[in-house]
Amino acid sequence: MVQRTLAILKPDCVRKNFTGKVIDQIVNAGFKIVGMKMVTMDAKTAGEFYAVHKERPFYKSLVEFMSSGRCIPLVLEKERAIEDFRELIGATDPAEAESGTVRKLYAESKQDNIVHGSDSQENAVTEIHFFFSERELIPNS
Ligand code: CMP
Repeated sequence: MVQRTLAILKPDCVRKNFTGKVIDQIVNAGFKIVGMKMVTMDAKTAGEFYAVHKERPFYKSLVEFMSSGRCIPLVLEKERAIEDFRELIGATDPAEAESGTVRKLYAESKQDNIVHGSDSQENAVTEIHFFFSERELIPNS
């Protein structure tokens, strides 16, 4: 089934100029970019995006990190996009990520882990609409 997922190239990715390399890896893995923009989230917006982690000890620091600079949200389309994208980026903790994955190649820590990917179909829909209106996406083919 063709699916859409939300990816975010996080502030560490943009700051370290890994954007081009990571987008190349995403496209070479067969994902079609159907939406893309550059945003700077304020703490309120980043806090809303990660509201599911509100009770976690890392929440405050995560919100500070995600609002510390420019991010690039992307909507990606592919067969099994959600699962395949999570495989492409690797485990949250780069120390545990498979070799060749985006996080193994570029991430520094569990928090500063370069990229986000939706973890379920339901969350993908919510997360895509958090950043994009339908007008900003290539229509479903
Ligand atoms: P992401 O896939 O965007 O989903 C939630 C984010 O919280 C995660 O990537 C990391 O950036 C961050 N995160 C998850 N677990 C931890 C942790 N144990 N310590 C610090 N940050 C974390």
